[in-house]
Amino acid sequence: MPIMTQIIGTGSYLPERVVTNDDLAKTVDTTDEWIRDRTGIRQRHIAAEGELTSDLAFNAANRALEAAGMVPQEIDMIIVGTTTPDHTFPATSARVQAMLNTGNGFAFDLQAVCSGFIYGLSVADNFIRMGQINTALVIGAETMSRLIDWQDRNTCVLFGDGAGAVVLRGEEVAEGEKRGVLSTHLHSNGHLYDLLHASGGPSWTQTAGHIRMQGKDVFRHAVTNLASVVDEALEANGLGYDDIDWLVPHQANQRILDGTARKLGLPKSRVVVTVAEHANTSAASVPLALDTAVRDGRIQRGQLLMMEAMGAGLTWGAGLVRF
Ligand code: UT7
Repeated sequence: MPIMTQIIGTGSYLPERVVTNDDLAKTVDTTDEWIRDRTGIRQRHIAAEGELTSDLAFNAANRALEAAGMVPQEIDMIIVGTTTPDHTFPATSARVQAMLNTGNGFAFDLQAVCSGFIYGLSVADNFIRMGQINTALVIGAETMSRLIDWQDRNTCVLFGDGAGAVVLRGEEVAEGEKRGVLSTHLHSNGHLYDLLHASGGPSWTQTAGHIRMQGKDVFRHAVTNLASVVDEALEANGLGYDDIDWLVPHQANQRILDGTARKLGLPKSRVVVTVAEHANTSAASVPLALDTAVRDGRIQRGQLLMMEAMGAGLTWGAGLVRF
């Protein structure tokens, strides 16, 4: 019998401290009105001093494990999608593995910026379907606040900190039964490297640098690429827009969410939107949105979920899941 990857638990975590648009307007030339109109963002959560990406990841992972009814020792592989690791090395996932008090299996970080969770889901799904592992913890965790130039109004209003996680398990399904991860689709275009980047790095400046973005160009690519990868995922499974119960998109900008939904002809009522509450949390945003909608009862077992994201690289991808 074929093995398919099931999402058996979700979890998320946001740091306690909330920074509102009005708070930011005290230090940069911006307004609550501009930020809401242009992005839909109302607030973001910012990690406390000394609170690291691994702490956020650990909290989200614990909640996902609890929801799955599993203990960390049952996990074969841990992937942390992050662009803001605790240290340049080792991987943040190694620290998370230790925090979870498990020496089982293996752990590594995955760097695809805002697409990190979708990339992680895809990698884990392939490992599971190949039979190399049976269980995985895929986490997206970021402290984007540590990369922000707080004087740059073009970017400082857009990002926040947070983490989301899923527990995956391979289960045998009947021949022809389509349950769990149906397919994943990944893309990148390194020619667009400069559109969104950090102005530093260990090999370049020996510093972490700050976020720099050509917002309008990123915006344009986002709507086009996201709509096209959603089409690709539907086509690969012989499904159409009407079959999607929930679009669970990367939460960067309300206007990107609206533009993508419009292009796909999906009503807003079938799009999970959380960007207002926590801004763009990069790799954490898709699992954060997923966990929010699972816990508030919108997403139900058996529904068809289309997850998608685009980020620096550029990278983009989609995962279609019969939840
Ligand atoms: O996770 C994936 C990566 N990120 C994204 O997907 C983000 C993609 N891009 C965007 O979301 C939007 O392009 C932004 C929200 C970044 C910008 O919105 P926009 O409608 O494209 O604005 P713009 O860049 O064309 O800027 C319009 C004006 C500019 O003023 P001038 O030059 O026309 O006088 C900016 O300086 O708005 C100004 N501006 C601001 N004004 C008040 C830029 N940021 C701010 C701000 N407050 N925070």
